[in-house]
Amino acid sequence: MELVGSDSDLLGEALRRIQREVDVAFDAFLPMPADTRAPLVEAMRYAAIGGGKRVRPLLVAATAELYGVDRDAAVRAGCAVEAIHAYSLIHDDLPCMDDDDLRHGKPTVHKQFDEATAVLAGDCLHALAFEILADAATSGDPFVRAELIQTLATASGKDGMAGGQMMDIVAEMEDYDLHTVTRLQQLKTGALLAASVEMGAILGHVAPEGRGHLRNYARDIGLAFQIADDLLDHEGDEEKAGKALRKDEGQGKQTFVSLMGAEKAREQARALVDQAIGHLAQHGKEARLLAALARFIVERDR
Ligand code: IPE
Ligand code: IPE
Ligand code: MG
Ligand code: MG
Ligand code: MG
Repeated sequence: MELVGSDSDLLGEALRRIQREVDVAFDAFLPMPADTRAPLVEAMRYAAIGGGKRVRPLLVAATAELYGVDRDAAVRAGCAVEAIHAYSLIHDDLPCMDDDDLRHGKPTVHKQFDEATAVLAGDCLHALAFEILADAATSGDPFVRAELIQTLATASGKDGMAGGQMMDIVAEMEDYDLHTVTRLQQLKTGALLAASVEMGAILGHVAPEGRGHLRNYARDIGLAFQIADDLLDHEGDEEKAGKALRKDEGQGKQTFVSLMGAEKAREQARALVDQAIGHLAQHGKEARLLAALARFIVERDR
């Protein structure tokens, strides 16, 4: 699919819309309590409202749109994935992990509050994700709710994001080959992106046999996404990224950039995006947004 200028307008508008919707939804999910849990909820709000690009909720919504899913349902499922993502960032920034002071251009949660509050805010965002999915407001169909929960749970745990984070930590001590780095990235970052696409299809009542092309799309953009993050770390602008960069090398992280160099890694990311867009062929123009999102994932500067 050839992308034209209007596709970037389409993407910009779609990002602004989902950013607004996710902020409004988290504001409603997280009212301030009138007791001593207040700092906990304040920290959750601090992490969940504003700041992020909302790529994962947009993946849910854009996939769901292909199948005519109700917008509110898609936004709720998008918030569930984003809650997991926000929790993963709080914990990723802790001193025992990447030890970062800046996220989304402001102090990280443990800097703004304290470490204990940051750990608990992460725990509670993790729980919130499943509260949202288990609620009948997300889908009146209990089978759909169960499948959403199973998909997000698998993508969050040892066979997904947290498992990848462990491999990432061990990478500081071990030499990984390309195959192992690919596996690490697929778990650490790819799993939640893939779950986002899958959840859009689940809401659309697409049977697993009909999701193959979407899974292929998601696998390719997932890998491209982390290559782009590693390229940003290598050569990005901290001001734009809103987080500390040039840390991976010093921390001994093994990435596509450390293994194959920036140029080859960029080529690889672009090839993955072309391949991802190829998987959308059967949807024709209807998939313009997913295609534009795939391009954005590698060309972004934050
Ligand atoms: C950053 O993810 C962490 C990775 C998984 C690479 P994003 O780049 O999606 O973070 P935000 O939410 O938009 O800041
Ligand atoms: C984090 O990867 C991935 C997560 C699961 C949170 P990074 O550690 O590279 O993400 P940044 O660069 O801090 O956003
Ligand atoms: Mg990390
Ligand atoms: Mg980090
Ligand atoms: Mg990074």
